[in-house]
Formats: sequence, C-alpha cells, structure tokens
Amino acid sequence: MFETLQAQPADKILALMAQYREDPRETKIDLGVGVYKDATGLTPVMKAIKSAEHKLWEDQDSKAYVGLAGDPAFGDAMIKLVLGDAVPRENIAAAATPGGTGAIRQAFELIRMARPDVRVFLSNPTWPNHPSILKYLGIEMVDYRYFDDETRGVDFDGMIADLKTARKGDMILLHGCCHNPTGANLNMTQWGEVIKVLLETGATPMVDIAYQGFGDGLEVDAEATRAVVAAVPECIVAASCSKNFGIYRERTGILMAISTDTSSKGLNQQTLGFLNRQNFSFPPDHGARLVTMILNDDAMRAEWVAELEATRVSMLGLRKQLAGELQRLSGSDRFGFLAEHRGMFSRLGTTPEMVEKLRVDAGIYMIGDSRMNIAGLNATTVPILAKAIVDAGI
Ligand code: LMR
Repeated sequence: MFETLQAQPADKILALMAQYREDPRETKIDLGVGVYKDATGLTPVMKAIKSAEHKLWEDQDSKAYVGLAGDPAFGDAMIKLVLGDAVPRENIAAAATPGGTGAIRQAFELIRMARPDVRVFLSNPTWPNHPSILKYLGIEMVDYRYFDDETRGVDFDGMIADLKTARKGDMILLHGCCHNPTGANLNMTQWGEVIKVLLETGATPMVDIAYQGFGDGLEVDAEATRAVVAAVPECIVAASCSKNFGIYRERTGILMAISTDTSSKGLNQQTLGFLNRQNFSFPPDHGARLVTMILNDDAMRAEWVAELEATRVSMLGLRKQLAGELQRLSGSDRFGFLAEHRGMFSRLGTTPEMVEKLRVDAGIYMIGDSRMNIAGLNATTVPILAKAIVDAGI
C-alpha cells in the first residue's frame, strides 16, 4: 500500500528550520520560524504559564474528557480577549482546536461543508500554510494584492480593487493584526474601507488572529477584528494562543463562528463539535486550561500582560535598532519600513537569490520570500544582520 505514496511538497518554514539545525556555524542566526526568543536566544516559558501550571498540578484531580468544543470557560475567556464586547455572546459559537492552525483547518472544512463551491480570497502573500491546507481540501483560491514591493507597505488600492471582485458565498481571509509574512498592516481607516467592501459584496470574512499583543498592544491589536465582526452578518475568527501565551507546542487555539442570526447558533455550535469529533475528537485541554486560568485570575493575568507587553516593546526596540543600523551603514532611509512594520515578521523585499546569499555568506536564515522573524534577533545580532544586508548589496 505505502508504495503508492508520493512525496509531498515540503513546508518552506519547516524545511528552513531543519536546514538551520544542520548548519555547524556558531555565528548562524535563525530568523526563520515564528518563535519569540529572548536576548539569550531562549524561547522562555512565560511566568504566568509557570504559575498556572503549578496551580494546575496541585488542583487538578481528573483528566477525563471535557467536551467536543473544549471547556466552555476557555471559549468565554477567549471570546472576551479577542472580541471584547463587539458582539453579543449569544451570536457566537466557539470550539477549542489544536492550535491556531487547527482552527484554520476546521474553518475551511466548515465553509466547504456550507458552500462546496466557496472561493477563498487570500492576501498575496499570506502564511504558506493557508493555501497549502486549502489546496489539500480542494477549495478554490483567489489572490488579492496586498504587499507593495516598492514601499514595503500595503498596496491598498490593489487590495480593494481585488476584494471588490468577491461575491456572496466567497470567503475573504484577513489577518487580524501583525500580517504574516510581511509585517505590513492596515490602519483603522483602511479597515473601514475593507468592511465597506465586505458589506457591498456580501462575501464572508474570516479573520486569522495569531499575534494579538505583538503589534501595538493587546487591545489595539484586536480593534480590526472587533470592527469586522461588529459590522457583518456572519464571520469566522480563528485565534491562536501559541505566540501570545508562548505555548507553541501545547497546541491551543479557538474557532469562532459568529452570526447575527442567533437562531443558527445551535446548529453552528453542533457543527463545530461534529468537525472536532471527525478530525481528532476532543481538543487538547492543557494549554487551554492554563490560558483560562490566567485570563480569569487577576494576579496571573497582570503577570501575563506585563510579560507580553515587555516582549512587544522589545520587538519594537529591535525594529528601531535594525532600521537605525541599516540607515547608518547604507546612508539611506530605504529600510525605514522595518520600524513601521508590526508583529513578529518583516518582509525585507529582496530576491530569493539574495536570501540564499545571506545564508551562505553570513549564516543568516530567513524564508526565501525574505521574511525575517524580528523576534529571533537580539541587540547583538542586529548589527551583524544589518552589516550582512548592506554587504550583500540589498
Ligand atoms: C510561522 O509562520 O513561522 C509560524 O506561524 C509557525 C508555523 O507554524 O509556520
């Protein structure tokens, strides 16, 4: 049987991780996979997570199954964190999923179930796993313009023009904040324009929010998602806890199906539970429980917010340092966009050949489309990166 298998395309982010591990150079710098690293290069367990784990170890007296949608308290806590009071709770069906990717996968299955002929509009570029999963599920994709190669900001006119070609029954996938892979984001006025197009076309939005708290702050980063869900009749939100709680390997995420038609909530909720059951049965509980404990406990929550904010501020500092160093070495302002971008990533905007040159000559690993994980830098590696970029003639 197995002899009929065919090799599948490698995920470029994961392939780069493997390549980095094999590089014997001590001076190598990993700007590949989106993982936060502190100044010593460690991805630490956040203090609030440690506190919650300690408490859980003492208090938890059973590991019996919870429910197909996970613990409802996790749903409530995450809905509050992501959506605030943007829509009434009775409009929202929600289910815990294995990570943000699990939520995305379930969302795509849900929409294919609802509309087998759905087309999903994706920003060009987007996180490579979006088109990969869609292709795997046989769902049609349409690209919309997003990144302006000249300014390294958003090609907003192009984006709007392309979104206007969507129609009712299509889904438009939007990054709630901290666009991956570019780091270029819309301002709230531009989000208002996108919402207008959503209402005009009747297309359904899906918001992927994986970096809340990594851009301009926990509340500000959720503003766009909240504005979208408050404005449209139906919406899907996929949220991840991997990054902002630093629990990457615990696989903690949530899928929300929001509808102003409250009579559909029961069916939406039942469908989310059904999809979980078909794919993996009960969602992982450990990470979700830690998140719930933290969000519902004043002291642990304050500890988490403070550490997340420190992480965010440190990433902003690295952006400014890198932009400044590049300006000094190149004598030009052409890298100023790095300080304007938000989130973990920035697309440098160079060719795959140059990216390869940086890897070969300087041991700097970034994704082939020149996405850099800013959170993989530190004060010592920033000048090394800046010099390598300028030396390469970028
Ligand atoms: C990334 O884009 O690097 C992260 O979202 C990690 C992943 O799973 O690809």
